[in-house]
Amino acid sequence: MGFKRDLNDPKTQQPDRLRDFRQCNEWLTQVTFDHPFVRIFRFNSRFTGIRIESVDPRKKLKRLHYLLIASIAGTSIGLLVLRQSDERPVDPSFTEKNKATPEQTIAVEPSEKDSGSGRETIKNVEGPDSNDESLISQKSTQTQPHLVGKKVCKECHADNFRMHSQHGHAHTFHVLNDSPEIVSKFAGKTFNGGEQFGTYHYQANAETTKKIGTDHPIADAELTATIPTVFGDNPFPLQYALGSGHNAYTLLTLITEENGETAALEHRASWYTGQDGLNITPGHSKSVPADGLELFGNISRGDDMNKCIDCHTTSAEIYDEQIHNLIPSVNCEKCHGPGSEHVRLARLQSEPPAYSVGKDDWDTESEIQLCGDCHRLPKNISEKELREYPDLLVRFQPVGFLRSRCYLESNSELRCTTCHGPHESLHEVSKETHIQNCLNCHTTPEHTICPVSPKDDCIRCHMPAMEQEQGLTFHDHWIRVRDQ
Ligand code: HEC
Ligand code: HEC
Ligand code: HEC
Ligand code: HEC
Ligand code: HEC
Ligand code: HEC
Ligand code: HEC
Repeated sequence: MGFKRDLNDPKTQQPDRLRDFRQCNEWLTQVTFDHPFVRIFRFNSRFTGIRIESVDPRKKLKRLHYLLIASIAGTSIGLLVLRQSDERPVDPSFTEKNKATPEQTIAVEPSEKDSGSGRETIKNVEGPDSNDESLISQKSTQTQPHLVGKKVCKECHADNFRMHSQHGHAHTFHVLNDSPEIVSKFAGKTFNGGEQFGTYHYQANAETTKKIGTDHPIADAELTATIPTVFGDNPFPLQYALGSGHNAYTLLTLITEENGETAALEHRASWYTGQDGLNITPGHSKSVPADGLELFGNISRGDDMNKCIDCHTTSAEIYDEQIHNLIPSVNCEKCHGPGSEHVRLARLQSEPPAYSVGKDDWDTESEIQLCGDCHRLPKNISEKELREYPDLLVRFQPVGFLRSRCYLESNSELRCTTCHGPHESLHEVSKETHIQNCLNCHTTPEHTICPVSPKDDCIRCHMPAMEQEQGLTFHDHWIRVRDQ
């Protein structure tokens, strides 16, 4: 990487000083043009432009330099240098437009939330509610159900609350500043991201480092990464961690792009519990960095970014490089919908009216929609993959499940919660219970009994665990007799 080294050379680092054309030509012959920081664009045979990027990771800011070279009669005769301002382009009206009023914040109207961000989860979760015309047409914020938080549910549903608190759902999104245990998995370590990326050096602020490992973790746990060979000691902040740590933690930082839009950078290194260490984030192994910040990871934008955060949170509105109204992780009301009305009525009477999964039209398909909205449905998969069912699809349990004869031929009796208590973590479920779930059908006269192993070990042969990237395993939910 010739150019990387040249970046430290003041001559090449600051092209706007290159007013001398000879020097410029010399410089041009030095740089390696396939470097992500340098782009050449040719307008026509006379004009060539060069775009050079310098990055300030701390401010998550890109600075652009443009050189325009006119070539007449075989020699370069002009050089124009433009530098784009450092200011991040922010449309001031954007914040005002998108900011929820305090009322809106608590009175989340399902239909509004949907159209706001193209999120589907709430709509599907809310299936029964959103059919209720009276709810949607109510303008008064008093009768529109809003989020009350899981602690309120605990009052009356203590068992479900306790179970859910052991589930991955309850711990799948973390603000790093509040999570010194996660910060400590990175702080002080280095990780080589690969030749085109460089080595990340992780650092927590001094206060945090002192407190990590004590019984009293403190709130301020800022974590940063540097790539000394490229950016010196200029740090890139790491903001959020996704995953419960049962399998992994992946880090995410919101950035502002040149067009003023907020985007999310998924860091290239993740923590793997199974490896007790850092390794490449799933999906990143083939990445090629396209611009300076991408040396820290992949950028996701628009719906991809919204969905990434949406699948791991109960409420989140993303703008201005921040998540507003954040309720981390998949809590009660993410699946059951805003609960204020249910709580109000349950406090007035011992048998409150049907709510959420208690409604008449809640059925197997509604449930598969709910779980599938995050665990993925066939509509999220390309037709080619659906046809070929490559191993990587086992990660998306509903996709395999929906093609199983157990589901197709059991008259809507088999759904996710037949085998998974919706609140109970798999880590609390024994192997015997999984087998019993199969035997509940496959010992009865109306169903077939296995000629090979009628009472034992069903999962290993019919739903085997399959290893994916970085040793993560997922069970193939296409329950079937497999080719050997
Ligand atoms: C003041 C007590 C109370 C609070 C608080 C409460 N519930 Fe309930 N909930 C009940 C009662 C009573 C029932 C009906 C009997 C039962 O199933 O336990 C019920 C039933 C349910 C049902 C079953 C569906 C139905 O229609 O029967 C769900 C789901 C539910 N509650 C979720 C929640 C959630 C989520 C929260 C927090 C937002 C919550 N509840 C807060 C008392 C409460
Ligand atoms: C809003 C998105 C969302 C919805 C809806 C959802 N899940 Fe999940 N689920 C997740 C995420 C994210 C994880 C990963 C948790 C972690 O980080 O370990 C997960 C993990 C799990 C796990 C493994 C973790 C454990 O502790 O057992 C099971 C089992 C599971 N989900 C079942 C379900 C079922 C069944 C439903 C439907 C009733 C459902 N999920 C609905 C997002 C969702
Ligand atoms: C469509 C919903 C959805 C989107 C989008 C999504 N996730 Fe997840 N994520 C899940 C579910 C569901 C699981 C649980 C997978 C399982 O255990 O089967 C999960 C698991 C994880 C885990 C736990 C480790 C693992 O592999 O089990 C991490 C970390 C994670 N996601 C990070 C991310 C990040 C970062 C993004 C965005 C860049 C993202 N996810 C986008 C739904 C989603
Ligand atoms: C991943 C989605 C999901 C989450 C998160 C979730 N639930 Fe549920 N819950 C369900 C589903 C699905 C059912 C219906 C299960 C069935 O059909 O047997 C259910 C059923 C219930 C019921 C009625 C049956 C029972 O178990 O008593 C109550 C009450 C309930 N949930 C409360 C809660 C509370 C309280 C929380 C948070 C602590 C919560 N749920 C979190 C999906 C979820
Ligand atoms: C017939 C039983 C059965 C049904 C139905 C079922 N699962 Fe599973 N599921 C299992 C078993 C068994 C495992 C592996 C448990 C273990 O060994 O920890 C599993 C594991 C999982 C995991 C953990 C990650 C993995 O793949 O190993 C998730 C997430 C999950 N199931 C989601 C779902 C969802 C969503 C549905 C509904 C579309 C569903 N399951 C339906 C039996 C079932
Ligand atoms: C709700 C009932 C139900 C449950 C629970 C259930 N199955 Fe099935 N399964 C069926 C039905 C229905 C069929 C179609 C053949 C029949 O009627 O036996 C079937 C078919 C099968 C087949 C033959 C598939 C083929 O491709 O020919 C296998 C293998 C199987 N089940 C294994 C399992 C295993 C393993 C479990 C537990 C993880 C399980 N089933 C749980 C209802 C169920
Ligand atoms: C050692 C691997 C193995 C184990 C363990 C095992 N199976 Fe099977 N199962 C098979 C094979 C192989 C077949 C196909 C047999 C054939 O077609 O002759 C089969 C067939 C079946 C069928 C279809 C039978 C038919 O006639 O269509 C069902 C249902 C089934 N198994 C359920 C189960 C259940 C439930 C369990 C656990 C109690 C289980 N299996 C455990 C390997 C296994």
